[in-house]
Amino acid sequence: MNIVLVGFMGTGKSAVGRVLARRTGWRHLDTDAEIERAAGKTIPQIFAEDGEAAFREQETAFLASLAEAQSAELILSTGGGTPLRAENAALLKRIGTVVWLRVAPEAIWGRVAHSLHERPLLAAHQADPLGRIESFLAQREPQYAALADIVLETSDCANSEEGAARLMERLKLA
Ligand code: S3P
Repeated sequence: MNIVLVGFMGTGKSAVGRVLARRTGWRHLDTDAEIERAAGKTIPQIFAEDGEAAFREQETAFLASLAEAQSAELILSTGGGTPLRAENAALLKRIGTVVWLRVAPEAIWGRVAHSLHERPLLAAHQADPLGRIESFLAQREPQYAALADIVLETSDCANSEEGAARLMERLKLA
């Protein structure tokens, strides 16, 4: 079994993935971190220097190599935009059980407000970040919903430990 975490920016995909890996002993990979490592630069640098399209190509290439490798006991944290390409959605399904971490827009804003500089798609809209989050969610939530095997509501989770515990219960790993 593998677990693929999807969801909007700030929903805890990376943090919950790290806690899950610690608790299960499974391997944890993070698409953003793998892309940064391979490119030798940060996500904001990739967006600024190479553009979003180049970043999306790198996401697809990474997922394709992972699907090919057929790993087991893997936890994959994705970027918020990763599942939006149909090709990526199909690759994620091949990789594992897809879990959508669902968080309400106000809670997302509370979690990303201090780290807008790390998120080029939100940093560009600082005048009305909550409005930007809401309009992104209106576009993206139907796609997360269509892909997910499991929807985990985590707006009320105080931290990633709680989110991971809730997911382990749902997956009967606890
Ligand atoms: C993106 C989300 C980011 C990162 C990139 C694009 C998106 O990841 O992949 O900035 O399109 O939502 P996080 O969801 O981990 O912030």
